Amino acid sequence: MADTGESPPARKSARASARDLLVVILAAGHGKRMRSTTPKALYPLGGQPMLRYSLDVARQLSASNVVVVHAPGQRQLIEPLAPGARLVVQGRPLGTGHALNQVPQALRGATEVLVLYGDVPLLRPATTRRLLQARRRSDFDSVLLAARVSDPSGYGRIIGDDGAARIVEETDAAEEELAVDLVNTGITAFRGAALWPALRRIKKSSRTGEYYLTQVFGAMPRRTYLTGPEDEVLGVNDLWQLAAAEATLRHRKNHELAKSGVMIVDPTTTYIDVTVRVEPEAVIEPFSFLRGGTTVGARTRIGPYAEIYDCRIGEDCVIGRSHLQGSIVEDGVDIGPFNRLRSGSLVARQSRVGSFAEIKNTLVGPESDVHHFSYLGDAVLGKGVNIGAGTVTANYDGLEKRQTVIGDRVFVGSDTILVAPVRIGDGAYTAAGSVITKDVEADALAIERAELRQVPKWSQRRRRKASQDG
Ligand code: UD1
Ligand code: CA
Repeated sequence: MADTGESPPARKSARASARDLLVVILAAGHGKRMRSTTPKALYPLGGQPMLRYSLDVARQLSASNVVVVHAPGQRQLIEPLAPGARLVVQGRPLGTGHALNQVPQALRGATEVLVLYGDVPLLRPATTRRLLQARRRSDFDSVLLAARVSDPSGYGRIIGDDGAARIVEETDAAEEELAVDLVNTGITAFRGAALWPALRRIKKSSRTGEYYLTQVFGAMPRRTYLTGPEDEVLGVNDLWQLAAAEATLRHRKNHELAKSGVMIVDPTTTYIDVTVRVEPEAVIEPFSFLRGGTTVGARTRIGPYAEIYDCRIGEDCVIGRSHLQGSIVEDGVDIGPFNRLRSGSLVARQSRVGSFAEIKNTLVGPESDVHHFSYLGDAVLGKGVNIGAGTVTANYDGLEKRQTVIGDRVFVGSDTILVAPVRIGDGAYTAAGSVITKDVEADALAIERAELRQVPKWSQRRRRKASQDG
């Protein structure tokens, strides 16, 4: 069957009947080829668990019901990812046909059933819409999504044309069938009334002991397939294919951002999770990583070599080669190279962080400077504060973390140790090298220093003695 474009009226009808669409996501296989105990559906991909991609497709189709078929013991892991979906357990992994047959009777009344495979994450909603429309237009029993791929190994091959097509699994394929590059993606739209009786009739494979869903397709009187794009159909069975899926998603994300007005200087070395948002006119320099729930404001420059996890970065910022996690950076902030922002920090507008600073669970007030070699932990800084080089908040006494509070316009001299809990009043100064163990009044100078003693001519005497001894 030829590809059909998506016309506006057809799209409308797809929406209208979404109320009668059941989407079933098969995710109960043991994923043996991953060689790990982590459920395959939960593997991270583009910054979110792999299963999220199929769930997102189902959500965008506004399906009336969504079922996730999962393996025993995974309910608690899958539930948080799939709000609104029905979770159904498949007791033993007896094949894709057996997995689909776990759908409860109560949900089998839907006119249309779309089957998604939890390990086919690159599928776009538009392709599934085309599949559903193709089925509806001629009221087929089933329409399968096929694809021509450069390397068909591992996939079921589609043998025969249109209405006579059937799927031969790789393990069962003859030599000439193995050469076929038209493969089964697993994604199939069924007419509900045709699917369930046919599913009950399929037989176990004598070779593997599994019930193949692909047999159902071959048994349908009115069936056909639609050819989809190769970059959407990759099945993730092992870690190498997971890496390939990651590369595709990364390329898509960089492309989409560039089209929206974000300057991606070198897409091959820019790693941005699908979940990240970047405003137009931002610039992302090479070797930068934007992960998780990160957002970046307009005109901000990131990198090169920046790593940013779950942070909110404002507009007009400059973020150098630094590592930022779980923090907020307001508009106009400049963070130089080699800094680390740990969870719970906020750097307020127009502040500057120089280099080699570590900032944890700390509020840096607006227009403040944290220049070089400092540690600020569990601290609150006011507006216009200057933190001298080598400042350390001694926030931990081995038992508890304690707070340091620094008022507006405070000048903390170089190499000050602030032993928490301690408060420095507005406008106060601390002298370089001081260890501050008591609260400092507003506008005071706190100086804690052993008096400097000079021994006159000490060096001269030493040199003279050395020459006499020699
Ligand atoms: C399957 C297809 C193959 C197709 C390929 C596309 C069958 C028999 N074969 O092969 O034709 O080319 O996908 O990627 O369908 N699952 C269960 N319960 C089970 C077995 C599997 O829920 O008992 C789930 C898996 O978690 C996975 C999906 O079904 O999400 C596909 O299973 P998998 O074992 O990966 O099948 P493939 O060998 O990839
Ligand atoms: Ca697979």
